[in-house]
Amino acid sequence: VSKSDRGGLRPTRRTLVRAAAGLAAAGSSLGVSGVAGAVVEAKNGAARDRAAADAIERFWGEHQGGIATPVQAHSYFAALDLQTAKRDDLIKLLQAWTAASAHMTAGQTAAPIGQDMTVPGPDTGDALGLPAARLTLTVGFGAGLFVKGGKDRYGLGAHRPPALVDLPRFNGDQLVETRTGGDLSIQACADDPQVSFHAARQLARLAYGVAEVRWAQTGYISRPDGAGTPRNLMGFRDGTSNPSVADPNAMAKLVWVGDEGPDWMRNGSYVVARRIRVALEHWDRMKIAFQEQTFGRHKYSGAPLGGHGEFDPLDLAANDQDGNPVIPESAHVRLANAATNDGAQILRRAYSYNDGVNFTAERWPPWRQGMEYDAGLFFICYQRDPRTGFIKIFENMSKFDMLNQFTTHNGGGLFACPGGIAKGEFIGQRLFDAA
Ligand code: HEM
Repeated sequence: VSKSDRGGLRPTRRTLVRAAAGLAAAGSSLGVSGVAGAVVEAKNGAARDRAAADAIERFWGEHQGGIATPVQAHSYFAALDLQTAKRDDLIKLLQAWTAASAHMTAGQTAAPIGQDMTVPGPDTGDALGLPAARLTLTVGFGAGLFVKGGKDRYGLGAHRPPALVDLPRFNGDQLVETRTGGDLSIQACADDPQVSFHAARQLARLAYGVAEVRWAQTGYISRPDGAGTPRNLMGFRDGTSNPSVADPNAMAKLVWVGDEGPDWMRNGSYVVARRIRVALEHWDRMKIAFQEQTFGRHKYSGAPLGGHGEFDPLDLAANDQDGNPVIPESAHVRLANAATNDGAQILRRAYSYNDGVNFTAERWPPWRQGMEYDAGLFFICYQRDPRTGFIKIFENMSKFDMLNQFTTHNGGGLFACPGGIAKGEFIGQRLFDAA
């Protein structure tokens, strides 16, 4: 199998399973001949795989996947704490992550699976038979990679990018320590939830003894009619007014780090994640007209108040016959809009989350406040610089947004996602070359 890997014919998880099943039916086990069979099957399946190539997101290239990639249906985001004191361990981990990510995004197992049944196995097997499902893996570096508890553990302290600030404490923050921060982040997105979790889990396994998961969050979206802007759990279309990932100029201006550097961050981006619990029980009791005032958009059409179509521009200057703004002063879209924030814009890539129920609200006083569902929005946004992106926008919003009555930010983090990876390189290599 590993030979075929070098030849670029390594079986995908699908062809491997088909071959194994065929041999089992013929009364054989997946022994050495099974592996040979899998390779033959891989050749036969190559045409089929090529046909399905549009379901594979490119791994190597200028940018990491999962940022300007059209949003997949499922996400698994994990933050890890580094336990090792050795720089070499960290480098080896990033090398192993790179190799495994290249395989998995191509629909393969994390590493070639062998015939030794006495070892735990290089892949947990739960994605065997599943396609690549547009899997992307996006790795980020938290502040703790550079300096933690006053210690420069890996000789990287001087290389912490100025944009990788400590997020300020925002009005209303109820961040729970065990859901916040981390030295490394992994965002695994795919059109299949089993594929995204599988991928993050293989990377976590490769980290045993070097780093451990600190927190993780699943998320999902569903597109109305298969293609429309998804609705969040509050029933509103979410993602309408977002820079277009198909517009390289917008991405270069707003999302990708440029000359301002550091060099290893060039063509990378900064991710802010926030776990935002929504008091759905309260929201569900609100009149629709009030809900629309809260967002500044119509619920069913998604149009801005005063407009007709979902993609009509916001008219922030329009007043009604009483002289009141059509889009209220404290409506979410007014406060979030670039015009209110000196032009600041971010690329949102948020997912709904649904973690069952939790009767304790992360609010003061911390007891039941008629809240049941632990559900809401796992807000993820990418930007060239968080100081002129998320922080700039949210500082004001966190004080005045009507939506804040229903939302509690209870976790998340800020991570620097290095630029893309060229074949032969590992994730973030240029940071280690420089330091
Ligand atoms: C539970 C929390 C949140 C929910 C349910 C939510 C929902 C929405 C909805 C429904 C829209 C209008 C449709 C659209 O353009 O996508 C919107 C717009 C927007 N939201 Fe949020 N949002 C949340 C939190 C945040 C946060 C924390 C930020 C941080 C900066 C943010 C930034 C934006 C921006 C920039 C826009 C576009 C505004 C425009 O230019 O029209 N949102 N959000």
